[in-house]
Amino acid sequence: MILANKYRPKSFDEIVGQDHVGDILLNSIKRNKVHHAYIFCGPSGVGKTTTARIFAYSLSSFLNSQDGEDQCDEVARKILEDDSPDYIEIDAASNRGIDEIRHLKEDIRYKPIENKYKFVVIDEAHGLTGTAAEALLKMIEEPPGHVIFILCTTEVGKLKQTLFSRCISLRFHLATPTIIQGRLKQICDSENIEIESDAALGIARGCNGNVRLAIQYLETLAQASSGDDVISPKEVESVLNIFDRSKISALFELIYERKMGESILYINDMITSGFDAHDILEMLVEYLRNLLICRTCKNVNSIIILSDKEKEIIKKDLSRFSFNFLLENMTYLREVNGNLVNNFSPQTAFDNYILKSILYLEHNHEQKKDK
Ligand SMILES: Nc1ncnc2c1ncn2[C@@H]1O[C@H](COP(=O)(O)OP(=O)(O)OP(=O)(O)O)[C@@H](O)[C@H]1O
Ligand SMILES: [Mg+2]
Repeated sequence: MILANKYRPKSFDEIVGQDHVGDILLNSIKRNKVHHAYIFCGPSGVGKTTTARIFAYSLSSFLNSQDGEDQCDEVARKILEDDSPDYIEIDAASNRGIDEIRHLKEDIRYKPIENKYKFVVIDEAHGLTGTAAEALLKMIEEPPGHVIFILCTTEVGKLKQTLFSRCISLRFHLATPTIIQGRLKQICDSENIEIESDAALGIARGCNGNVRLAIQYLETLAQASSGDDVISPKEVESVLNIFDRSKISALFELIYERKMGESILYINDMITSGFDAHDILEMLVEYLRNLLICRTCKNVNSIIILSDKEKEIIKKDLSRFSFNFLLENMTYLREVNGNLVNNFSPQTAFDNYILKSILYLEHNHEQKKDK
């Protein structure tokens, strides 16, 4: 079984980064105030379908147990495996037409077999055709009392506006790198995968808040490594093509040393080895922003996410570069952006940046402090 499925959460507690949703749903179960239709919207891979299953399972298990039925939990638990006659999951990306909805309309007329409610989860609900969406709306307007609808979507703007007044809509968030790093660590511990914390953070930053993608990345890396090796940021970069941010601090080291030729070569090498100029620029801006924030703000940890190693490097760079240098450097990066937009070759755009950075240090007599 692939890791993302093996580690699909089975309770609200296990879903990371969406406590606000879990709390609302759990409370509605405890207070016996569930609604008959929900919209779960938000980015891909953050737990919408998983939450739909857990909600259906938790509600069913709770209601079954109130009736004191034997094996109430086992019956409800089948929902988690998408193996219950009372749980219907439709992928509207591939089954998007009116026939599917007509079929569903037939189906929901019948009472649930094993649980108190029948659940209809429509994944990628924005994918339904116009007539299918219209028919679904009618069904949600006049649902049989034993049905709960959950519409999941990554593109909430494409859903019919009229749906919103009939459903409770819950917004899922992108998972932060720290949250994803934590989840990866749990999985690595259970799977005996050894990974450096900076490598896990690298994956977490490279997956744009998508937990499923992060787990897939981890699996790819685990398969690519020999098994005895500890997964390092270098492997994250070479296997997944996710930028190793330590490259940027290494460039700042060269700039600090006023090594003009080596600095130019260093960026050239990055470009020729396939890194996109815009990605390099983005990482440089991020690094400078981190330095500026660490210099000026107190509550750094709530603004930016840095590993311990990165904090050490930032501390060193803060003692090396003046505030004015950092500000000025930001304007040089703006010029790099302009030059890239104006179709300068990436090499030329970055040569200019290096030149200006080092000349600034020379002209302003910024001392090398730890030499
Ligand atoms: N918040 C989360 N906490 C823990 N694991 C998660 C979370 N979100 C996603 N995952 C992992 O990713 C897998 C896929 O999650 P899920 O299918 O629920 O995402 P989704 O939001 O429905 O994505 P999509 O929009 O692409 O359908 C899960 O099996 C689980 O391993
Ligand atoms: Mg889904």
